Amino acid sequence: MARNIYGLDLGSYEIKVYDKKKDTIWKEKDALALTDKKEIFAVGDEAYEMYEKTPPFLDVVFPMKQGVISRFTDMQFLLQNLLKKDRQFVRGSEYVIAVPTDVTEVEKKAFFDLVIHSNAKAKEVNIVERAIADAVGLNLDVQNTKGLFIANFGGETTELSVLAGGGMVLNRLLKTGGRTFDEAVINLIRHSHDFLIGRHTAENLRKSFGIFTSEVDEVIPAAGRDLITRVPMQKPISINLVRTAMKDPLLECIRAIQSLLDRTPPEVRKAIADNGIFLTGGVAHTAGLETYIEEMIGIRCRTALEPDICSVTGLKKIIESPELRKLAYSMIEENYRWMR
Ligand SMILES: Nc1ncnc2c1ncn2[C@@H]1O[C@H](COP(=O)(O)OP(=O)(O)OP(=O)(O)O)[C@@H](O)[C@H]1O
Ligand SMILES: [Mg+2]
Repeated sequence: MARNIYGLDLGSYEIKVYDKKKDTIWKEKDALALTDKKEIFAVGDEAYEMYEKTPPFLDVVFPMKQGVISRFTDMQFLLQNLLKKDRQFVRGSEYVIAVPTDVTEVEKKAFFDLVIHSNAKAKEVNIVERAIADAVGLNLDVQNTKGLFIANFGGETTELSVLAGGGMVLNRLLKTGGRTFDEAVINLIRHSHDFLIGRHTAENLRKSFGIFTSEVDEVIPAAGRDLITRVPMQKPISINLVRTAMKDPLLECIRAIQSLLDRTPPEVRKAIADNGIFLTGGVAHTAGLETYIEEMIGIRCRTALEPDICSVTGLKKIIESPELRKLAYSMIEENYRWMR
């Protein structure tokens, strides 16, 4: 069978894959359910559904942490299992991987090692900085731009990047993401209601409403456990409470955007003011986020059409276009040679 080309955006929450042969993009949760004997019980979406509901002999693990691979072998298992799952996986394929910029060289190289030293027997592995993949996914002219600001709001990170003339000017990876919001919601509900909700419930509360779209309050029933009686039950939760919980982590992101802009050279900053700030990543789906940042920063914001798959869409375009292929590079060559 002829070799295939895969584009990979390995997120802390979801793995996104472009499969060239089938010309499709698919995604699955970055989770793995293991038995107490460390055998794989379930992978991807199926494993994620089991989180917080597993019997004692099962453990759901998340191999990525805050944008980098934290459990290398588990991540390798997971990726290979997902690629093989009803998907006619071909060994000896080529991979183009999106990587965060503001991490150590060792952490960056782990993305490369993940496929080059695996059973997948990768033929070739190239990497692309995630903000560049995002910019291509947004149909922006990365090579000729005088200034772009991309904010990728992910599951466990927020990656802020300033691009100009085809390259990275400034980049910062914040360890704040959807999960931070979920934890803030869980904590506030615990303190104000003596009520413990799970991560899925917190995520659903946060996702189901236009948190920033309306000042009108509503209450929604949420399942959890009363911490005084220990009884599982439903309690009405106010949307305003969820909004309040999200304020602090969100302000941290806004401050980081502002401080990166303050450090941006004036001519690049001017171009950003003209072009606007681009929002990508799953959390950018949050209704009203765009307007909130716009008001706080004073620069127009635009959200990608499908923000969660914007980076992998960029990888697809990079794989398809000989011109854009230049944006991907191999870690074996040039300045990376010393690593091997
Ligand atoms: N409609 C929605 N509204 C609000 N948040 C959403 C929505 N859809 C997804 N999310 C959130 O987006 C986050 C996942 O985004 P994304 O897939 O970009 O993260 P990731 O790439 O896996 O993580 P990271 O880039 O931080 O490693 C999750 O926290 C999820 O709850
Ligand atoms: Mg991501």
